[in-house]
Amino acid sequence: GASTIISPSILSADFAKLGEEVRAIDEAGADWIHVDVMDGHFVPNLTIGPGVIKSLRPHSEKPFDVHLMITPVDPYIDAFAEAGADMITAHPEAGPHFHRTVQKIRSTGRKAGAALNPSTPGETLDYVLDELDLVLVMSVNPGFGGQSFIDSQLRKIEGLRQTIDRRGLPTLIEVDGGVNPDTAKACISAGAHALVAGSAVFRGGPDAYRDNIAALRG
Ligand code: DX5
Ligand code: ZN
Repeated sequence: GASTIISPSILSADFAKLGEEVRAIDEAGADWIHVDVMDGHFVPNLTIGPGVIKSLRPHSEKPFDVHLMITPVDPYIDAFAEAGADMITAHPEAGPHFHRTVQKIRSTGRKAGAALNPSTPGETLDYVLDELDLVLVMSVNPGFGGQSFIDSQLRKIEGLRQTIDRRGLPTLIEVDGGVNPDTAKACISAGAHALVAGSAVFRGGPDAYRDNIAALRG
């Protein structure tokens, strides 16, 4: 729907001109800017760190939705907060003390998110849900753009939606991986309010960004 938050993943952008790409998706109607941080350890790929985020910060006033696929995560939280992240999302699978990680993110004043790999149940978050601004349901195994949506994750979105509503929490549900106009519809019906999309936004180049983003809103 019109109120769905669209957060294009710059993982699918042209890395030789990231500043321009961020400005282009901002002007094309992106609500947030999704930044995928990978360490070659928690996930089998390497991307960018706080330095690049800091350099991108002046290119858009939209919230930076920073998805950390790194382990350990706690030693880097301050650096991402200072670089200009508005939301910092980490994986409970990345270490044994996720509650501490959430507290650390909150202590920076940034919004706190939890990202769940496809095999991780939503119930994992039972005891931290009250402290989270965002749950990021991964609908692919993290590491790469351009993968296919894993349908079983719709049931996870539905379960989280029920839990969040039953507990009266304001927690947003965001979905990441293989989101295109078709799967976007399914995610929204299942109860998601925010969608990450890389290849579905950046395909066709800058002239297509506006239509690509609009198509995800359904
Ligand atoms: C995957 C990343 C995603 C990815 C999405 O590890 O977290 O944000 O870039 O890309 P698409 O939309 O192409 O699946
Ligand atoms: Zn992501």
